[in-house]
Amino acid sequence: MGSKVITQDIRAFWNSRAGLGLWAGTRDVIAKQLEIEAISAHVHDGMRILDVGCGNGITAIELARRYNVNVTGIDFAEEMVTAAETMVAGQHLRGAVRFQVGDVQNLPIFSEKFDLIYTERALINLPDWPTQKQAIINITDLLVDQGLYVMCENSLDSLDKINSLRERVGLPKITPPWHNHYFHDAEVQQTKFPGVKLEGVRFFSSTYHLLSRVVNAWLAAQDGKEPDYEAPLNQLALQLPPIGDLGQGKIWLWRKVDEIIPTKAHDTTELTGQDITFESLISSVLWESAGWIDWTALCRDEEKSPPDG
Ligand SMILES: C[S@@+](CC[C@H](N)C(=O)[O-])C[C@H]1O[C@@H](n2cnc3c(N)ncnc32)[C@H](O)[C@@H]1O
Repeated sequence: MGSKVITQDIRAFWNSRAGLGLWAGTRDVIAKQLEIEAISAHVHDGMRILDVGCGNGITAIELARRYNVNVTGIDFAEEMVTAAETMVAGQHLRGAVRFQVGDVQNLPIFSEKFDLIYTERALINLPDWPTQKQAIINITDLLVDQGLYVMCENSLDSLDKINSLRERVGLPKITPPWHNHYFHDAEVQQTKFPGVKLEGVRFFSSTYHLLSRVVNAWLAAQDGKEPDYEAPLNQLALQLPPIGDLGQGKIWLWRKVDEIIPTKAHDTTELTGQDITFESLISSVLWESAGWIDWTALCRDEEKSPPDG
């Protein structure tokens, strides 16, 4: 099966999910909420923002609700864009948001560059690393000098860590869905991209994935049940800081710089800031947690649908 066929299948898959409201982009709404908070941490008033692979626009709309920003969301699935336009109608926003059809492999022409661009589980839908690498180049080309690309995507290495814990307690491995190609950390972090430097890596979903994919999954298995995405134990992660380097959801922060002094491959040991020391734990407990959306209440009555990425 060629990659063109796969691309068409993936677009059809996302078009088919456009009507699922809060579950359109993922069934895992707690992970989604953690993503919004992690992306939002890099936003401030006055920014021009591009959301690539915006889906039905939940994050873009939330950012424009919180900040006086100008957000453009693009997605290659036309029905997602239509759903986003419906979603934003009648909302009271501090900023502005607009949506258009666009493919990260052939980005539209914009009249201005952006202060901040993010992807939220969009590039994992590309078929392989060379295509993903080119997408990162396409995206960072659209940044102003000192602009930031917040690449919120899934890491195979972090999933492997969760899987090794699952194996220890007798749970089966989790494999990425058919339409996803998760990132290998070494490929991302050892590649030199023109005009950008890797500023940091954030393991924002580490606590959540330990709780949901190991502890809660194990408890459910003891009762012979399927784990519930909105289980109380999973929700606990919304009140806790990210601890450790587990969790497939990760953020790589890319800063646009005029000139890069050549170095060795990016060394992320100094970039993560996620050591589990008592001091770091205490300081992260003070982590800002205001402004959570009550997703679980919003989703309670919705139709069940499968997980995805
Ligand atoms: C996992 S969903 C996430 C949607 C949204 N970012 C969110 O978090 O709710 C992935 C999205 O990426 C979009 N996508 C996949 N490949 C794309 C491409 N080549 N160009 C633009 N969008 C793409 C899909 O249509 C889908 O809406």
